[in-house]
Amino acid sequence: MKTFKILTIIGIISFAFYSFTTLVQEEWKVPAKYQTMKNPVAPKTDAAIGKSLFTKHCKSCHGAEGYGDGTKAKEMKGDLGDFSSKEFQKQSDGALFYKTTTGRDDMPEFVKKVPSDEDRWLIVNYMRTLAE
Ligand code: HEC
Repeated sequence: MKTFKILTIIGIISFAFYSFTTLVQEEWKVPAKYQTMKNPVAPKTDAAIGKSLFTKHCKSCHGAEGYGDGTKAKEMKGDLGDFSSKEFQKQSDGALFYKTTTGRDDMPEFVKKVPSDEDRWLIVNYMRTLAE
C-alpha cells in the first residue's frame, strides 16, 4: 500500500512537471552578436516607412498596437508577446532585429520578405514607439 502511495505521488509530480515545461515556452535565445548589435538607424528616421512596413507585415498577427491581438493571432502557436510591455521593451534593439529577421516556429522570417536591413531596423524603431 505504501509503495502504491509513493508511486502515485511520483506520478503526480512528474505529470505536473511535464505540463509545466510544455506550457512555459522555451526561451528564445538571441546570439551574442545580435544581442549587442548597434542600431544604425536613428529613432525618428523615416518613421512613416517603419509604420507602414509594420502594418503590412506584422499587424495581422501582432495587432496594430502590438498587443498580440491581430486577426491571425488565434491560429498561432506560441506567445506573440506584448510589444507595449516593459518586459518586451527591455530587450535590445539587436535582439528585436534578430527575432524579426530569423523568425521561429509560427513567427515567419523576414530576411526575404523585408530584404533590406535598414527596413527591418525601421520596424524595430517602430516597435519602440508601441511602448506604454
Ligand atoms: C503569421 C503571424 C506573425 C506575423 C505576420 C509576425 N509575427 Fe512576430 N511572432 C509570431 C509568433 C507566433 C511569435 C512567437 C514565436 C515564438 O516565441 O516561438 C512571434 C514573436 C515575435 C517577436 C518576439 C516577441 C517577444 O516577446 O520577444 C517579435 C520581436 C516579433 N514577433 C516581431 C514581428 C515583426 C516585426 C513582424 C513583422 C515584420 C512580425 N513579428 C510578424 C507571429 C507572427
